[in-house]
Amino acid sequence: MKALVLAGGSGTRMRPITHTSAKQLVPVAGKPVLFYGLEAIAEAGITDVGLIVGETAAEIAEAIGDGSRFGLRLTYIRQERPLGLAHAVAVARDFLADEDFVMYLGDNFLLGGITEVVEDFRTGARHDARILLSRSADPTAFGVAELDGDGRVIGLEEKPRHPKSDLVLAGIYLFTPAVHEAVASIRPSGRGELEITDALQWLIDHGRSVHSSVISGYWKDTGNVPDMLEANRSVLETVDAVQEGYVDGASTVTGRVRIGAGAKIVASHVVGPAVIGPGTEVIGSSIGPYTSVSEDCRIEDSEISGSIVLRGCVLTGVARIEESLIGRDAEVRRSRGVPTVHRLVLGDNSRVQIAS
Ligand code: G1P
Repeated sequence: MKALVLAGGSGTRMRPITHTSAKQLVPVAGKPVLFYGLEAIAEAGITDVGLIVGETAAEIAEAIGDGSRFGLRLTYIRQERPLGLAHAVAVARDFLADEDFVMYLGDNFLLGGITEVVEDFRTGARHDARILLSRSADPTAFGVAELDGDGRVIGLEEKPRHPKSDLVLAGIYLFTPAVHEAVASIRPSGRGELEITDALQWLIDHGRSVHSSVISGYWKDTGNVPDMLEANRSVLETVDAVQEGYVDGASTVTGRVRIGAGAKIVASHVVGPAVIGPGTEVIGSSIGPYTSVSEDCRIEDSEISGSIVLRGCVLTGVARIEESLIGRDAEVRRSRGVPTVHRLVLGDNSRVQIAS
């Protein structure tokens, strides 16, 4: 069995972060979301992985390399334009050959891994495809499944205006080579993409069996900022306290906090769950809970909670930042003097809420 991991796309819902970096590399609890997927695949005993990349290929390759760190053998597959998930399967046709495969969307986060479902697909009753479903309060944002009384999938719709159920397709699918005929037979959707949902519907319409199971654990498509922050909260719940950095006598660290090597906490309060990345300095500040600060940041005389801070940021003299995603090397400083002013240098599509 092989795996096909999708790490292309342009991440329009995550701008401006995704103007300069891949959405799949935004860290959740200090680790890029894509790494969790790759680890889950390795854990399930799959080693042969095709990685679909697009315009952020160089950055993805720099972060992941040949995959040996994860125990994987990676084949990079270029998708010139984000023309849909089924298009990605078509582009990977040669790599996939005639083997079963799991398709994993690189910005999806599933707590608890995929070992069980992969094992079941390999050894259980034979189906042409298997999908994972999760209950959603807003099914209109996803592919939606309709099941009959026996739990068989009878219909699928991509982002329907009037969903027939609250069961949405998680971005993890298991396929036999039957999917290739389906992919070759469908036409682009209204949004101009070859939808995997349509390929699955084609299988159903042609008498193939599409099996489903409802995920009991936590699943999140981290494609937008609130969902990313929520995934961060959920993973932080599972973080263990590790102290590899330095905490001075005037600081308090409460609850589960992971402090990376070379980090310094000086005259500060850190409330877990939280992660402070390697080489980050926290001085006279209050951090957490539910906050992930990446490596090499400097947070001084500031307060932040419920947020993700990417590498190399500087926060100085800023009272109470919450529910925020701060991109790499960003600086937030208090402006001095009278009258009170805000001076901003913001990237395209930035969003700022100011308390004034
Ligand atoms: C894609 C699929 C959708 C699925 C979702 C899961 O949506 O098309 O069916 O529910 O992933 O993350 P997209 O992220 O392309 O909008």
